[in-house]
Amino acid sequence: YPLEHQRMIDAHELLGKLYHHLLLNTKEGAGALDYLLSRGFTTEGIRKFKIGYSLPEWDMAVKYLTKRGFMEEELENAGLIIKRESNDGFFDRFRNRIMFPLLDSKGRVIAFSARSLDSEDSPKYLNTPETPIFNKSSLLYNYNGARSEIRRQGYAVLFEGFADVISADQANVKNGVAVMGTSFTKEHIQMLRRLTDTIILCFDSDQAGIEASNRAGSLLVDQGLEVKAAMLPKGLDPDDYIRKYGPEKFRTDVVGNALVWTAFKLHYYRFGKNLQNEGDKLKYIEEVMNELSKLTNPIERDLYTRQIAEEFSLSLEVLESQQKKLVQAEG
Ligand code: UTP
Ligand code: MN
Ligand code: MN
Ligand code: MN
Ligand code: MN
Repeated sequence: YPLEHQRMIDAHELLGKLYHHLLLNTKEGAGALDYLLSRGFTTEGIRKFKIGYSLPEWDMAVKYLTKRGFMEEELENAGLIIKRESNDGFFDRFRNRIMFPLLDSKGRVIAFSARSLDSEDSPKYLNTPETPIFNKSSLLYNYNGARSEIRRQGYAVLFEGFADVISADQANVKNGVAVMGTSFTKEHIQMLRRLTDTIILCFDSDQAGIEASNRAGSLLVDQGLEVKAAMLPKGLDPDDYIRKYGPEKFRTDVVGNALVWTAFKLHYYRFGKNLQNEGDKLKYIEEVMNELSKLTNPIERDLYTRQIAEEFSLSLEVLESQQKKLVQAEG
């Protein structure tokens, strides 16, 4: 690594340690610590993920790091501080937030994601921008921490948020990683593929989450990975679920009962439709038949075709002849 990059990493490591200390051991951090404990984070989890707290001051990081030999310009390039518009001096990017350090695949702090403590303070998560050492689309949260567990268990669980990863880890699901609120990319797939060929998607159970599952899952399937999707009650995310129903139920009923990809697709097409409505029903059947016509496994295809025939009281012959047409159309 060029010296310039190493120095940026050193600055992050130092600042991350200070944030962590402020959260755990000071009265300034007590409010943030209460918030985390009250929403179910454990002290052990806070230690493991090196979670911290940034003070509500304008120049804590500026002072702390320049005193230790860092130049303001390099801290600005590292995304930690921002130049004042008046051009006289710099101020801290992160203030009065819960600090989640983001580690590279070697376990070094290269960026932060910072959660606001109250809902007035937006965005909810403020992230380090793109820098010479941090590229969002190639970062998986907890990749370094989960690596050996992913190998050992033979699959990875992919979440939408940090809170979900940490909550799952506390629930003894230690092979979880999350994307950075951005979309899931081929770079992420390359990273996961080095460890496993099976991914369980466990996204939030809302419209955005199910759309994101569909996009990520399709990309993974196209790249030849085996994909399942864990289902949660509507409106909950994995962290909510664990708090409400406990770790045991999360492991068995959610992760353990994840749907195979075709079953997920059926669920996906159903989402947001009212199947009592004729129009929605016809649309659903059409979308499902289209999906089933892509299946290469005849047993799987037969299984789901029979399910549809039964559910909607349709003749199997009609569905099968429709399927033949679709298969031919695809060529
Ligand atoms: P969510 O809104 O689902 O957050 O966004 P969450 O993980 O459930 O967080 P809590 O439980 O409210 O604390 C999922 C992910 O999207 C990114 C973050 O990576 C977050 O973990 N995100 C969300 C942002 O980057 N910025 C935002 O303002 C919101
Ligand atoms: Mn396999
Ligand atoms: Mn969400
Ligand atoms: Mn969420
Ligand atoms: Mn959440």
